[in-house]
Amino acid sequence: MTADRSPAEPAAGHRLPEPDADALAHSQHLAAHISEQITAHGPLPFDRFMDLALYAPGLGYYSAGARKFGASGDFITAPELGPAFAHALGHCLQQTMAAIADWHLLEVGGGSGVLAADLLTALAARNVLPARYLILEVSADLRQRQRQTLSERCPELIDRVHWLDAPPQQPWQGALIANEVVDALPATRFQLDEDGVFEETVTIDPDRPDRFVRGRRPAAEGLAAMIQDRLGPLLADLPRPYASELHGQLDPWLAGLTQGLQRGLALFIDYGYPRSEYYLPERRDGTLVCHYRHRAHDDPLILSGLQDITAFVDFTALAEAGERAGLDLAGYTSQVQFLLGNDIEGYLASLDALSFAQRLAAVHPVKALMLPGQMGERFQVMAFSRGLETAATGFDHDLRHRL
Ligand SMILES: C[S@@+](CC[C@H](N)C(=O)[O-])C[C@H]1O[C@@H](n2cnc3c(N)ncnc32)[C@H](O)[C@@H]1O
Repeated sequence: MTADRSPAEPAAGHRLPEPDADALAHSQHLAAHISEQITAHGPLPFDRFMDLALYAPGLGYYSAGARKFGASGDFITAPELGPAFAHALGHCLQQTMAAIADWHLLEVGGGSGVLAADLLTALAARNVLPARYLILEVSADLRQRQRQTLSERCPELIDRVHWLDAPPQQPWQGALIANEVVDALPATRFQLDEDGVFEETVTIDPDRPDRFVRGRRPAAEGLAAMIQDRLGPLLADLPRPYASELHGQLDPWLAGLTQGLQRGLALFIDYGYPRSEYYLPERRDGTLVCHYRHRAHDDPLILSGLQDITAFVDFTALAEAGERAGLDLAGYTSQVQFLLGNDIEGYLASLDALSFAQRLAAVHPVKALMLPGQMGERFQVMAFSRGLETAATGFDHDLRHRL
């Protein structure tokens, strides 16, 4: 059984596999680290808890060594499903980068390194290799894994790959790709009820000091203003009590990522909704999902460091952040339409040379990428451009009016 990171409904009353003794010890180590922070500073805002659970150096889910991606990990992402996704991205980049000499490709959040390997291979086959392939990755463990994947899969291209600690400051031209990264940014949880607007916190259970529990506090002025600004007229239609998430750091994050981009394209692929579908009255507890060994569930306070925690993306907020960062919104569409507009047919035709069994094995993941009930429509692609004359391919089915 494999699962992508966007289940229609996380399981309630779930039974999760038991971690082994080493994993448990690791988790207790991280939980102790988080507890120390709570003891020192008081209850943590949920986004701070999520940040520690995922990214505490050497301990967090993404920072430590457990296998996350693929069948033996916790979830599947599009690049892990074979080269089809990279084939389509390669097609899009071939069209848009044609006029830019000496272009660079910046991948944000490189995961296992499979996308970098497949994309470099696809671009080499199209004879449009970037001068440099930059990977901005916060996890030291994943950087190592990426290097290993690249040296196994495309050793002849690894010299072009460079890892970055921070977004490029100096001017550059080219393309930026972030697949399933925005959903992994720490999310703020907020609650609305008859008494006002609250921010969710995480603290230590007074009855069971080995466990965390949720708390809340009145939203600070800045958060209350952000909720008002983002949800605006939607607020009146939401029931009370109501809880949801927002990515409060989106603006500075996106501005920082793209500050040096002088001319080029930025593609963000993720699961999410336009705002009016994100904050639906019936979605009364938000979009937060946790993943552990291909089981999706809704309790972020357990299995610290062993499970992924993610929140869907408000694509309207992403579009606004792009606009404020001085980017042009160049396209917004579903993943299936993006793939259809970027030669997925050519990829499928290339499978004809394979044996029947190989073809069957290769077609199955493409269906997962494209079917509406799977990744085809829950995943969306947003493109920003700056100073680019060529329109990005794959955005003919334009959903920008829904933002
Ligand atoms: C869900 S994984 C997706 C990985 C890969 N893009 C894929 O599709 O398989 C999220 C990735 O983003 C990285 N990440 C999270 N926050 C980041 C940030 N602020 N800057 C760069 N990378 C980040 C994580 O370490 C991880 O590699």
